[in-house]
Amino acid sequence: MEWKRPWHTRSMSLRPDTPLLAPSLLSADFSRLGEELRMIEASGAQVVHVDVMDGRFVPNITIGLPVVESLRKATTLPLDCHLMIVEPLRYAAEFVKAGADWVSIHQEADPHVHRTLAAIRQAGGKAGVVLNPGTPVETLVDLVGDFDFVLLMSVNPGFGGQSFIPRVLDKVKRLDTLRTERGLPFFIQVDGGVSLKNAGDLIRAGADCLVAGNAIFKAEDPKAAAAGLLQEMFKGRRA
Ligand code: DX5
Ligand code: ZN
Repeated sequence: MEWKRPWHTRSMSLRPDTPLLAPSLLSADFSRLGEELRMIEASGAQVVHVDVMDGRFVPNITIGLPVVESLRKATTLPLDCHLMIVEPLRYAAEFVKAGADWVSIHQEADPHVHRTLAAIRQAGGKAGVVLNPGTPVETLVDLVGDFDFVLLMSVNPGFGGQSFIPRVLDKVKRLDTLRTERGLPFFIQVDGGVSLKNAGDLIRAGADCLVAGNAIFKAEDPKAAAAGLLQEMFKGRRA
């Protein structure tokens, strides 16, 4: 199957032309994942965020490879697998083989981030580094060029429905400056507590892709909530 590319770029830039919304299945109804995918597709959201937790790096256990394989058969949208697991090298390429388009790993979970990123790319995926709220973006300076995107956590990973940590806005700006200085336009994703209140500001600060769980799936009308978030994100777009 020909997977839909996540965006069409005007140049060779890794950055998407328009802001991307990635609904997080963590907040979805796991007994109705197929229907939840249809809702995401109908809402205009362009990416599906899949939270993989191992009960060790984070205190929660969620889903793994077999579920990703099933999701792959059920949608052409890009699957964005956020691995909150220790020793991510053991599984990262497996997630690409299972159908993930993007795979991100936590810098805090891996003493060999460079090697794991290379394994993801080698398998054909887009490779991302995730930073917890307390990890400074400056720790990425010597990895620029080795990843396709950075995911900044705006909550402590492990659970959906937590409150957004506002200080992350400054991290987005600093990371945006870093990529301008380096001339390597990796894309910036933000995950945790994203809502109508902060979506515009995050895009304005330089974020390209926002993950949202509760703001979509716990809304009365999830499809309308996703569409509303996207609208807010477009408003934050820089000219
Ligand atoms: C948290 C996960 C997030 C989570 C976001 O560890 O990485 O993707 O699902 O959910 P909300 O948007 O509800 O904070
Ligand atoms: Zn996530």
